[in-house]
Amino acid sequence: MQNFIFHNPVKILFGKGQIAKIPQEVPQAAKILITYGGGSIKKNGVYDQVKAALQDFTVLEFGGIEPNPRLETLMQAVKLARQENIDFLLAVGGGSVLDGTKFIAAAIPFQGDPWDILAKKASVTAAVPLGAVLTLPATGSEMNSTAVVTKEETREKLYFSSPLVFPKFSVLDPEATFSLPPKQISNGIVDAFTHTVEQYLTYPADAPLQDRMAESILQTLIEEGPKTIAHPTDYTARANVMWCATMALNGLIGAGVPQDWATHMIGHELTALHGLDRGQTLAVVLPSVLEIKRDTKREKLLQYAKRVWGITQGDEEQIITEAIARTRYFFESVGVPTRMSAYDVSHETIPAISDRLKNRGMVALGEKQDITPQVVEEILTLSI
Ligand code: NZQ
Repeated sequence: MQNFIFHNPVKILFGKGQIAKIPQEVPQAAKILITYGGGSIKKNGVYDQVKAALQDFTVLEFGGIEPNPRLETLMQAVKLARQENIDFLLAVGGGSVLDGTKFIAAAIPFQGDPWDILAKKASVTAAVPLGAVLTLPATGSEMNSTAVVTKEETREKLYFSSPLVFPKFSVLDPEATFSLPPKQISNGIVDAFTHTVEQYLTYPADAPLQDRMAESILQTLIEEGPKTIAHPTDYTARANVMWCATMALNGLIGAGVPQDWATHMIGHELTALHGLDRGQTLAVVLPSVLEIKRDTKREKLLQYAKRVWGITQGDEEQIITEAIARTRYFFESVGVPTRMSAYDVSHETIPAISDRLKNRGMVALGEKQDITPQVVEEILTLSI
């Protein structure tokens, strides 16, 4: 096992009715900016619950944070928060609202152009504290210190991480997710599954506990994902998927093991250029990454095949082929197509994507840094 430092300070308030506990988590006399997206929280009752919980606080609001949150929008919130001397942020929504709010938190005290935090990896030395109410299980943003932001002007989708933007607390009420459209819950299942795979399907690192935790998340998603799609208000199924998504990217399963992340990096480009949802991009890219890297990932692919899918018949090549096929079939079965052509994206985009990664210096992706721009092209060619 590799050396690691693990520190995750996020307090989780999980379950029905937990929004009412928010006042106990927010500093007394805080001036709070509630941030939200396009209005789903006003239709499903979450907004009303949050407002009721915060009735004794001074509260301002900033709505309109879009999916794949844009720098241009977030900077308006930064301006408002600076003018109003906001001292606590409460993100209410999906990963986009949470990520956008992490950026706002870091940008408020930042000296200079806040885009440098992402584009130049400028260090974050201060941030306004934030909390979160999650309404979409998928990204893990509620319990991690990462945020992904898109600059519309240049169509760049970049990320930053800082321990200063861990939420102080996150409320996870499965009932707040019952109103999700099927497409979003499907995307969320693929997102959580792929987060787990990116930290698991690499090469053996003598870390059986991390392996088994990752396998448990994958198996639980395979069991509970279809149930929560078929029965959106099944509390138990939704609660299990929600906790899987959080556990998939809170640092625990990735501690001390090699990590891949090539699928995500390539996927970001498909979103930036063609507007695909993140779950869709992952469903398109992951099976091809596994296929192209089947030799370097061989041992873990065999372990994955046996332990997650129960595949024991056939020679090693057949077992690996079957495991990749089952992964693709699982994504399709939860409603997420796995071919670029299904989204009207043609092969013409392939050189554009590899050029964009090259221009950003992302020329050695994957756990072995062997996914070069040429390999990215091979992966995408297999994804058409
Ligand atoms: O904007 P509103 O009206 O709230 O509607 C949203 C949005 O249209 C809707 N929605 C959310 N909760 C709902 C709901 N609709 C009905 N009922 C509810 N309960 O769902 C739509 C999508 O929301 P979004 O927040 O964009 O989805 P998601 O949670 O999948 O977040 C995507 C963003 O997270 C980033 C992605 O790149 C993307 O920008 N990621 C962040 C990561 C992280 N912080 O660690 C890792 C991830 O891999 C990912 O890259």
